[in-house]
Amino acid sequence: MKKPDFISAAYGLPHERIPVWIMRQAGRYLPEYQAVKKKYSFMQICRSPELVAKVTVQPVEIFGFDAAIIFSDILLPLEPLGIKVDFTENGPRLYPLVERPADVTRLKAFDPARELDFVLEGIRVTRERLHNRVPLIGFCGAPFTMAYYATEGRSSLNDTKIKRFIFEHPGAAFDFLSRLAEIIGQYLKAQIAAGAEAVQLFDSRGGILSPEDYRAYSLPFIKRVFEICRAEGIPRILYLNNSAPYLECLADIDCEVIGIDWRTDLGKAGKILKRKTIQGNLDPHLLFAAPEKLEERIAQLLEKVGDHNRFIFNLGHGIMPQTPVANVRLLVEKVHGYQKRTSEIEFVG
Ligand code: CP3
Repeated sequence: MKKPDFISAAYGLPHERIPVWIMRQAGRYLPEYQAVKKKYSFMQICRSPELVAKVTVQPVEIFGFDAAIIFSDILLPLEPLGIKVDFTENGPRLYPLVERPADVTRLKAFDPARELDFVLEGIRVTRERLHNRVPLIGFCGAPFTMAYYATEGRSSLNDTKIKRFIFEHPGAAFDFLSRLAEIIGQYLKAQIAAGAEAVQLFDSRGGILSPEDYRAYSLPFIKRVFEICRAEGIPRILYLNNSAPYLECLADIDCEVIGIDWRTDLGKAGKILKRKTIQGNLDPHLLFAAPEKLEERIAQLLEKVGDHNRFIFNLGHGIMPQTPVANVRLLVEKVHGYQKRTSEIEFVG
């Protein structure tokens, strides 16, 4: 059977069209998702495999994206660890927080396959509903990003608590990040066993570290996660927000795809990460622009790509609520209609 374009692109194999999907593609910009949200809370959706399948498949059917991403949240594995997560109007709120070394010792050990079984069931049902139209991506937060939320308790603008914890209590921080890496690795492995056909780690907060500290407190734990969940034919994607200062150290991660944000130069990223596929990196706010402007910027972005066989089109971060749906449709059309530069390899055989 022919490989889906998304999977071929992840491995740098020749394929027809540039694949496109977008982070948070199931979400509040979409009227069909909002209709479900009127009846159920975010957590109710996450805990119901039927609803998960429904909202995961929606954007694929509506726009023709080349991949689906399971509807869930990076924060869910914190609950069985003993940190309660509430999704409020103003974003997530977590408690009790990890503030002292003793809080790390108190965290509960758990088996992701049991405690997060509803996610795995959601993956199974979604695979049935997708009928192999496109691959399904599983995901989790990267250890550092999970530790960020466990210490900070919310998305904040200060970003100080995790850094203070790391420098004040390096031993406890190491234990904490190591425990997160094992759990996340097992969780992604369980997602793959349930039917996920690619996995993505979101290091949404890793970008608050200096490059040296990124090497010490985020990178080794990402490597450990990818070591645990390595599986034949299942691409591993790392998304890093604010990725520009860290490109060199991402090159030696054993994974197939690196997702970058819009501040990072695509040409430069391609050169530094030449043996990996790049995923990104349109500024999500450009989807508010006039259609002509959007088209022009999509074309400019695609011209910057060094190897069109090693590229997956995405936004540089999640799509914003209120994004005009017509522009999402236009984006998919433009990317699919783009004439890839073909490499010689494509004509072999
Ligand atoms: O991409 C997808 O379509 C799959 C679903 C998905 C959600 N969250 C659903 C969600 C994914 C991949 C995530 C990842 C996630 N969650 C990240 C990493 C990506 C990033 O944005 O950096 C982070 C940091 C979180 C934590 C989180 N969850 C925050 C900060 C918020 C509030 C801010 C926001 O965008 O709403 C959430 C809530 C959340 N997760 C919503 C959705 C659809 C909104 C809840 C709602 O619909 O009411």
